[in-house]
Amino acid sequence: MLVQTITPKTTYEFAADVRAGLTKPGQKELPSKYLYDDVGSALFEVISHLPEYGLTRADERLLRRHARDIVERLATPVAVAELGSGSGRKTRHILEALCRRQRTAYYPIEISPSALAMCERELSDIDSISILGFEREYLDGLLEVAAHRSPGQHLLVLFLGSTIGNFDRPAGIKFLTEVRRILEPGDSLLLGTDLEKSSVQLLAAYDDQLGVTAAFNLNLLARINHELDADFDLAQFEHVARINHQARSVEMHLRAMCGQTVNIRGAELSVEFLEGETLWTESSHKYSPAEVFEMARTAGFRCDVQWIDEQWPFAENLLIAE
Ligand code: AVJ
Repeated sequence: MLVQTITPKTTYEFAADVRAGLTKPGQKELPSKYLYDDVGSALFEVISHLPEYGLTRADERLLRRHARDIVERLATPVAVAELGSGSGRKTRHILEALCRRQRTAYYPIEISPSALAMCERELSDIDSISILGFEREYLDGLLEVAAHRSPGQHLLVLFLGSTIGNFDRPAGIKFLTEVRRILEPGDSLLLGTDLEKSSVQLLAAYDDQLGVTAAFNLNLLARINHELDADFDLAQFEHVARINHQARSVEMHLRAMCGQTVNIRGAELSVEFLEGETLWTESSHKYSPAEVFEMARTAGFRCDVQWIDEQWPFAENLLIAE
């Protein structure tokens, strides 16, 4: 067992992105990746245990049930790169199945240092594994992993939990195309996609009774307060989940409960919110099973198999690079 971490080049991108998103004419917005600081990652981990949010458990059930089958379909020898490892709990099933067949290098790529550390701790006990974590944006990390592969070694990329749903549809396809470009023919991508379900079920999942999702969303303002020296009054904003029927997504917003001005010194910015105005913080797109085959094809993959959970509409898709 070997565990190492590559740490990032730090940037002032956060201030720039906050500035751009909050001064945008019309709908104010922020990139959802900023929800995942240490507190946000821990809150998401709690969300994944909530009765209303079945997504993560469906993902894990499919991986547990089909790990052997998945692994047997891969061209070997194979190294594993994961985009957004989170806690690593779901990934264990795939890595254990793979490590029974070969020594396996596992490269988690994760923007949250605490999630990365958790995943390294969680998985380091697996026999015949070596772990090298990258605290990086997904494509940057994947490029580094691909650059280090040895001749004849294939790659399995894991993109689980329907994180792809945070992209709108065209951006999702563009992202898959970029992943494909880094891969070689015969490499594979295991893609988790949350499927369409009733509005009632979706609204409950993204606005839970305990208020954990509300805290997860509001934490973005707390993060801006302490990282960018801002003065958001969290009591003046409320969490809103809404369905976008046209986009086939659930959106999270933070709604200003009264008119107010917020100062964000670290971004040299002062922003006005009107009463009722919202800040759009995340979209989670939902897919039809057939559409995933189509997306895969457009991006240069072939969808080899699709497994669908019986309890919570969610699909695990094994895509092979053509
Ligand atoms: C981790 C991006 C898949 O979109 O469902 C959970 C994040 N947001 N509750 C999702 C999330 C609100 C989650 N992903």
